[in-house]
Amino acid sequence: MKVLVIGGGGREHAIVWKLAQSRHVDKIYCAPGNAGIAETAECIDIGINNFDELVNLVRYEWIDLTIVGPEEPLSRGIVDAFEREGRKIVGPVKAAAQLESSKVFSKEFMRRHRIPTAEYKVFSSYLHAEDYVRMKAAPIVIKADGLAAGKGVIVAATTEEAVQALKRIMKDKEFGDAGNRVIVEECLQGEEASFMVFTDGSTIVPMVSSQDHKRVFDDDKGPNTGGMGAYSPAPVLTPELESVVMEKVLHPVINGLREEGIKYKGILYAGLMIKDGKPSVLEFNCRMGDPETQPVLARLDTDLMDISLAIADERLSDIKIEWKKDAAVCIVLASGGYPGAYEKGKVISGLEKANGLEGVFVFHAGTAFNDGDVVTSGGRVLGVTATGRDIKAAKEQAYKAAGQLHFEGVHYRKDIADRALNR
Ligand code: AMP
Ligand code: GLY
Repeated sequence: MKVLVIGGGGREHAIVWKLAQSRHVDKIYCAPGNAGIAETAECIDIGINNFDELVNLVRYEWIDLTIVGPEEPLSRGIVDAFEREGRKIVGPVKAAAQLESSKVFSKEFMRRHRIPTAEYKVFSSYLHAEDYVRMKAAPIVIKADGLAAGKGVIVAATTEEAVQALKRIMKDKEFGDAGNRVIVEECLQGEEASFMVFTDGSTIVPMVSSQDHKRVFDDDKGPNTGGMGAYSPAPVLTPELESVVMEKVLHPVINGLREEGIKYKGILYAGLMIKDGKPSVLEFNCRMGDPETQPVLARLDTDLMDISLAIADERLSDIKIEWKKDAAVCIVLASGGYPGAYEKGKVISGLEKANGLEGVFVFHAGTAFNDGDVVTSGGRVLGVTATGRDIKAAKEQAYKAAGQLHFEGVHYRKDIADRALNR
């Protein structure tokens, strides 16, 4: 079979790597891909939102199935476009992807279906929002309604900071129309965890748990990033808690959407805050997390093509999904300056050495070729992933591999997975 993966980051490299192990897959295409993906897949230079060209590619190359990595094409209706043409694709339709693309939709949906989440209010008027923030005590959370590349959430420690965030979002329109409405939300305390599931609209199968590291520097200091590293499993999500999350969050979401006439197929990601053994939803993502996908797929035993076809054909209950007992840790190597401005085109060395270590796989995120060299081409450059008998062993091996890699300005956190080890 032939399969197309849409996207070109670390998450997509992990998906391609796993698909390459499938007994069904003869050829993988990736649009647009990156230098690492190019080793296993044919990279095609088509934009992730160019649905007409992507459908044409699938038609002319006789591609059997498409898997979508990032949220943007999902929120713009890529699944609707493919299904209109009778093409198999894994991901939610546009109406279902609103769970991620509109935080107002998501919060109102959770309220309707009694899914645990922080108290909130929605504002479309700046003055009303400011009055409300001044009335409430800090800390308080401000969220732009629409997609803002992970930057639309401000956890404000003071009222002034919250007011500044409202100004930037609603008046200066820093995120454009994504800031037409804002949510002002109660600030929750506790420990965060990521919980992803596969679903075909009725059957829901959990993946192993994971934990991202959003801040750029050690000890969770500095600004938020796309994610600086992840580990799996996340010990905060005990098996008992996982059942609670399935019962109180995932089943009510999939059933609630179905009652509202929306079938959710694909991957659903719940960002959770856990306090005193109780989960509360911070956000939903309508796709796999990046970098969580890297350690999670490193632990998947079952053929990913089998799972993907079962989702598309709505027969997920027919297959058994199995995971390795091993733990996995992924460390993100970033460009100097990220998440702010950074330079590109730095030559990367040590890839072969790092990949040669036992249990290690270096997933590429922002990489490209230049004159036979692999060079940096994005903020997050590599996701050095290792498996081991436990988190400690996986962490040691991942850092050993990271130490073999170099490019000018490289920086990475030195404390990935410590939270799991210091519990
Ligand atoms: P989101 O994109 O909604 O996940 O928000 C990004 C990050 O902001 C989360 O991973 C949390 O670290 C933080 N966050 C979001 N909502 C809240 C909240 N209500 N209380 C505390 N932190 C939050
Ligand atoms: N790692 C968080 C995300 O993918 O949104």
